[in-house]
Amino acid sequence: MSADKKLFIKTYGCQMNVYDSERMAEALGGKGYVQTDTPDDADMILLNTCHIREKAAEKVYSELGRFKGLKAANPDLKIGVAGCVAQAEGEEIIRRQPMVDLVVGPQSYHRLPAMDDTVRRGAKALDTDFPEDDKFDMLKKRKRASRAPTAFLTVQEGCDKFCAFCVVPYTRGAEVSRPSARVISEAHELVESGVKEITLLGQNVNAYHGHEGGLAGLIWELDKIDGLERIRFTTSHPNDMDDALIDAHGSCDKLMPYLHLPVQSGSDRILKAMNRKHTAESYIKLIERIRAARPDLLLSGDFIVGFPGETDEDFEDTMSLIREVNYGQAYSFKYSTRPGTPAAEKPQLPDDVAADRLQRLQALLKSQQIANQDAMVGGRVKVLFEKEGREAGQLIGKSEYLHAVYAEAPKEALGQVVEAKVVESSPNSLAGVCL
Ligand code: SAH
Ligand code: SF4
Ligand code: F3S
Repeated sequence: MSADKKLFIKTYGCQMNVYDSERMAEALGGKGYVQTDTPDDADMILLNTCHIREKAAEKVYSELGRFKGLKAANPDLKIGVAGCVAQAEGEEIIRRQPMVDLVVGPQSYHRLPAMDDTVRRGAKALDTDFPEDDKFDMLKKRKRASRAPTAFLTVQEGCDKFCAFCVVPYTRGAEVSRPSARVISEAHELVESGVKEITLLGQNVNAYHGHEGGLAGLIWELDKIDGLERIRFTTSHPNDMDDALIDAHGSCDKLMPYLHLPVQSGSDRILKAMNRKHTAESYIKLIERIRAARPDLLLSGDFIVGFPGETDEDFEDTMSLIREVNYGQAYSFKYSTRPGTPAAEKPQLPDDVAADRLQRLQALLKSQQIANQDAMVGGRVKVLFEKEGREAGQLIGKSEYLHAVYAEAPKEALGQVVEAKVVESSPNSLAGVCL
């Protein structure tokens, strides 16, 4: 192995990219790379990119522009683009930005070591295949001396849903589930190196079919792992919330009472145009069933405003759905036209209409989030402490509902679940006193 080379990875987009970045670093570790947290002295810079909205994709090119000086100063510096922009744009990236040496799509990360050999020889390396082999099997093992108390674990990738606005089925390919035995052995390794909470990841994680019992079957297997205290999963599609998964929310103690269940719109007309294959009413009924199983569950969602053809009335339907459901937290976006998706062919709404709607929608969601957090004051939460806070003696962790919680606690409490009384609510966090 050669002397250590420095690898700088910058990650955009969803949690799956966070997970992938870690696996890429591990794969390149075998080629003598160690990670660094600044691009300034790196031998390789990798941007792990997101294509979901136009802004996210364009960011990549402005970021690349900033590395020009570094490349001029160090001709041995190699620059790579990974992730969903790499998959969507392929060699176009090198055409637009010739200083890029390497372009690798999300399904080809196990080929990175060979691609490193290619770029070190001075050639360009491009791989945006969807190979048959399981990249996770071929990537290096995740063994490590110690880890943070929380970890992501990808169990499913890709999407077959083809919502009319979304690039994911094109950038991540068809739905593929990892066999449960592999997921479970990876979970054991994580727990052995100190992980207490695992978040199962998938673009449509509740469509997981690597276990005969589906995602719920996998969760119950993970439930048996001693030392694993918390299980979460994200992101789910309403149409794949089966009875077993709803039941698990009521009966599996390790499964946390938090669910991210995007609905996108509250208008049936728009849901149909989006190809979501569910109605506002079926979504609300589903939420009722989930809350019957787990009444304190904190619900999160995603919304898009300004989808082609969305009228004021459609938008008001979305506002009504939000009022009816009452979200503990949510993400909302202005519709972004993505080339190659069916919705991009439709007449687009003026930007100011979408911007105005987004503002109103976000104000409503924010007021629900604040009201929900305020209602926690005086109650108790269980906090898994993850890191030290800014003030001395303070630790930061997550409640079972995924609130950020600050509390005074000894350093030894890091990695522990501690019960705390909530004494204050701020817009994005809670303050607690350990009991
Ligand atoms: N698989 C998940 C999330 C995919 S992307 C799901 O089905 O819910 C995350 C979120 O980005 C989506 O839920 C959607 O709200 C948003 N999004 C996707 N494409 C978009 C686009 N073209 N414009 C604006 N927001 C978009
Ligand atoms: Fe995109 Fe829809 Fe698939 Fe989610 S379900 S990843 S929004 S196509
Ligand atoms: Fe973005 Fe790809 Fe994730 S488009 S949201 S990084 S799946």
